[in-house]
Amino acid sequence: MKTPFIEIPEEYKIKSLRHQTTYLVDGELKQWKGNTTKVLSTISSTQEYKPTLLGSIPELGEKEALEALDSATSAYNKGQGLWPTMKVADRISCMVKFVKQMKTKRDEVVKLLMWEIGKNLPDSEKEFDRTVDYIYDTIEAYKQIDRDSAKFEKHSGVYAHIRRGPLGVVLCLGPYNYPLNETFTLLIPALIMGNTVIFKPAKLGVLLISPLMEAFQSSFPKGVVNIVYGRGRVLATPIMQTGKIDVLALIGNSISANALQAVHPKGNRLRMVLGLEAKNPAIVLPDADLDLAVEECITGALSFNGQRCTALKVLYVHESVVEEFNRRFAYKVDQLKFANPWESGAALTPLPEKDKPAYIQELIDDALEKEAEVLNKKGGETNENFIFPAVLYPVTKEMRVYKEEQFGPVVPIVSFSDINEPLDDMAESNYGQQVSLFGKNIHTLSPLIDTLVNLVCRVNLNSSCQRGPDVYPFTGRKDSAFGTLSVHDALRSFSIRTFVASKDNDYNRAILKELLEKKTSNFISTDYIL
Ligand code: G3H
Repeated sequence: MKTPFIEIPEEYKIKSLRHQTTYLVDGELKQWKGNTTKVLSTISSTQEYKPTLLGSIPELGEKEALEALDSATSAYNKGQGLWPTMKVADRISCMVKFVKQMKTKRDEVVKLLMWEIGKNLPDSEKEFDRTVDYIYDTIEAYKQIDRDSAKFEKHSGVYAHIRRGPLGVVLCLGPYNYPLNETFTLLIPALIMGNTVIFKPAKLGVLLISPLMEAFQSSFPKGVVNIVYGRGRVLATPIMQTGKIDVLALIGNSISANALQAVHPKGNRLRMVLGLEAKNPAIVLPDADLDLAVEECITGALSFNGQRCTALKVLYVHESVVEEFNRRFAYKVDQLKFANPWESGAALTPLPEKDKPAYIQELIDDALEKEAEVLNKKGGETNENFIFPAVLYPVTKEMRVYKEEQFGPVVPIVSFSDINEPLDDMAESNYGQQVSLFGKNIHTLSPLIDTLVNLVCRVNLNSSCQRGPDVYPFTGRKDSAFGTLSVHDALRSFSIRTFVASKDNDYNRAILKELLEKKTSNFISTDYIL
């Protein structure tokens, strides 16, 4: 596949390199003089293909990782730190200060999202804006939680003032496909609840954190946010081995999550908030509106080239409609425009992982060997940084593309005659995030819905799978997740209910009254935040 080179618009050209030379520890942007790692984009700036150098990041080692851990541990200071004991309203002020500064960096971050991970312009802008909204929504949700707990309860002669308190030190690791949004959906709730954090940017989409470093430094007390750069294994493993991490917050794969969990010496103590792999299926029933199903399956399978944990990664289509579905679907896939992220109408964009086209090709070759066919003309066409999505049919359980989470542009289609086939496959699968169900007759849909909700955590009716809107629970069964994220649920996941109780007698009542009147405790307070 030869893609014509189109001149890069001035505003999106890389005119200077961004060398991140500092890391954030103990409230200080520390200069790094050691080894660095080049950050390359798979997008070419020249007619003749060549990856583009964007800059570099520090390659920190174990010493700096433990330095960051010490900083976060001291800021938490056994629960006595400024941040975990601070009034909710004051923590919210810090967050507001941060988000105001963050908003001024939109253009820089959006440009880096396009260059670093190849996300198209509208989706890069959406990622930034959605993250800003997420922060404001989190602030509002926390105010509501705080208002709900601004009271005393009394049962069996015991007063209780119950709130949510922080858990301690959080290690936060985000994914490359949403290096800003998904990382922040962990980081922001963890912080606002009073935890202190060590945060390592994702393997790709790392320079886009640079424009926000000063905002992090100036908005939060020292040691509350620590940002380290380098390889996950080198940094995260020694941190976990100390046993000083209270929460592992990770969106990525279960191999990393299991490896990190395993080296923590006190597994029982470690809380986890994990968003992991998925292989979300679509099920197209005989009475489905095929145009709608095709449209939603295209979005579901191929937005951001299929590099979403929520992507539709296998399509089950009833044998009575599979031929027609395949014809329309394959045609539509070939209409999708492949282009650089800033080009108008770019639906498919360069893959940020340089080995991904070869991996997808392996999946295609394996399926072809086992007698599947590529249904679309452009399927499998390759250039230096992309492979055009192949629509593969008929896919069987023996094929790698059926078993592996492709996380990229290839769409396997399986035909079924009995609805128990996809249901059994889902029950056997290691994953359990979401499903898309296409059909109309409520008598067919009802029993299916009632079963599917027990196999996954979101049944999308005549709609593609997705995480948003962010107020809805985002979770999964089996290997797909641990814990629940939504604006509200994330605040719960990063905190614990903790309370002050006292027997009802004159002596205690007088003390509580005085505590409330003099406002000397940040915890005991019935003040409302409006
Ligand atoms: O990578 C998984 C993301 O949570 C997907 O989010 O459905 O909004 O694209 P999305």
